[in-house]
Amino acid sequence: MAFNPKYPSPYKHVIMSQQFVPAFLEQVFFLADQIREDEASFRSRLQGFVIAEHFSEASTRTWYSFGAAAVRLGAHLVCSQGSDKFSSEVKGESLEDSIRVISGNVHCIVLRHVDDDSSRRAVAVSKVPIINAGSGKTQHPTQALLDAYTIQREFGQLHGLKIGVAGDLTRGRTCDSLVYNMAKYQGNSFHFVAPYNCKPKPGLLQHLREHGVPFTEHEALEEVVKDVDVLYMTRVQTERFDDPEEAQSTRGKLILYPHLVELMRDAAIIMHPLPRVDELPKEIDANHRARYFEQADNGLWVRMALLVMLLKPHP
Ligand code: NCD
Repeated sequence: MAFNPKYPSPYKHVIMSQQFVPAFLEQVFFLADQIREDEASFRSRLQGFVIAEHFSEASTRTWYSFGAAAVRLGAHLVCSQGSDKFSSEVKGESLEDSIRVISGNVHCIVLRHVDDDSSRRAVAVSKVPIINAGSGKTQHPTQALLDAYTIQREFGQLHGLKIGVAGDLTRGRTCDSLVYNMAKYQGNSFHFVAPYNCKPKPGLLQHLREHGVPFTEHEALEEVVKDVDVLYMTRVQTERFDDPEEAQSTRGKLILYPHLVELMRDAAIIMHPLPRVDELPKEIDANHRARYFEQADNGLWVRMALLVMLLKPHP
């Protein structure tokens, strides 16, 4: 599909992966490639736009890549990183009131928030597009866009792949967003690997059953590494455990040791949304299957494309 610069995003807001139709992903990826090849032509594309980043949870990649994407397109940024400490949330202001007020000042709000339903609540009161940059344990749809973009660049397709998804699938959100995204494509199957207390969310498995998407569940990486095209590792989300002792004892239960990587298919790739902790030893970085730093770099181009499509469909 050729990208039509007059074709606006069909969505005002970006909330969850289930909302994306494949044609939207193609548009985002096509534009991401165009920007990557000829960034100079996009340098003033969002001149005059003001974008807010409002983050109440820790962030490195998402924060910097959205900020850099906005600035590299000529937009201005107004930010609160640590909105749980430095915005009026501290004084007891509701998310709804904050968003209502911020949306009167800017053209778009990139929101990361600890509440699972934060982006839906924000959309209900915002005058401007909301981009969900991570909502509690539920979704991280722009991460899923850059994950799918990474897979597309690697395999030249998004269908017919065996995808291993490992780690804390109970408390993570990137795994859900990726699976909802990739489940739209024919012939994909999912192979979940998680300790007993980190199993995939029932709603995600129900979605796969309803859509006839095959999946298997495992507790050991050994059971899947040989077969998959993509191994998507995630960390144990220790900060989201109710019991800190359980969090600590769960850390390190699922480690992709170098000898396991050697069992993988030669053309398979290892992905990770990052940050990594124990699950992905540094020795693997030099392995030809490692793609997680390229994956993180892809976030810039995908987020630039997304901002152009959401904010300025008519150049
Ligand atoms: C992830 C997140 O915030 O959900 N990080 C990211 O945005 N790349 C993954 C994580 O925190 O484990």
